[in-house]
Amino acid sequence: MTLGGATPATLALAGVSKTLGGVKLFTEVNLQLQSGQSLAVIGESGSGKSTLLHLMAGLDRADTGEVFWAGTAIHTLNNNQIAAKRLRHVGLVFQAYYLMPHLTAQQNVELPFLLAGEKPNTARCLQLLEQVGMAHKTGSFPREMSGGEQQRVAIARALALNPPLILADEPTGNLDEDNAERVLQVLLAACSAQDSALVMVTHSVKAASHLNHKLNLADHHLTERTQTQSNPVAGP
Ligand SMILES: Nc1ncnc2c1ncn2[C@@H]1O[C@H](COP(=O)(O)OP(=O)(O)O)[C@@H](O)[C@H]1O
Ligand SMILES: [Mg+2]
Repeated sequence: MTLGGATPATLALAGVSKTLGGVKLFTEVNLQLQSGQSLAVIGESGSGKSTLLHLMAGLDRADTGEVFWAGTAIHTLNNNQIAAKRLRHVGLVFQAYYLMPHLTAQQNVELPFLLAGEKPNTARCLQLLEQVGMAHKTGSFPREMSGGEQQRVAIARALALNPPLILADEPTGNLDEDNAERVLQVLLAACSAQDSALVMVTHSVKAASHLNHKLNLADHHLTERTQTQSNPVAGP
């Protein structure tokens, strides 16, 4: 099944619901994202942001509803087909980075090329590492990097193959203000230079403010964000 329209949305969710461990996280999530658009999903810790992003990435399956990548309903594919398609369609930045511990920063960024059966584009990988401020650590292993540094390498890796869809889970969560600004600009620049679509889930209203569209994940629903809503993280 494909989703209608001359140019199908880069990402679409139709009636998506998910319950985990007997707890309903969200229900009836509908959205469409075209190339070049950026969307921030803002929600409190535990609201289901990572779960929603994993559904968008085809790492988990929805209880009801459908996820489409460029018009393809991914529930019609088996796990191997999803993995092969994900490699080309989706650049993923996990909340826990998931860098390969035995590979250097540069080798981690080059890995998607190898998985795709291609010779790594070393110049591009080094340029991406420079853009995220990691040019001085190309030969470092993850254990030699701070959490924020690993996050920046993970972002470079996600962009390596110019994916049409970039999914980022709290990409600024472990960064100081300057580096948070820097990685947001890299993600947004990828969006405009490569015409990619970007979804970022975050608890930070400030990080979200850089993106075109903002939605709230709260009370089991994804809804338009009103101007008056403040940061869901209470306290100083
Ligand atoms: N595999 C799982 N089994 C049961 N509950 C889970 C599982 N993964 C996450 N949860 C629960 O689902 C809720 C949402 O988790 P998550 O999507 O990680 O939220 P967020 O990213 O917004 O903090 C949390 O309460 C979490 O404890
Ligand atoms: Mg999370």
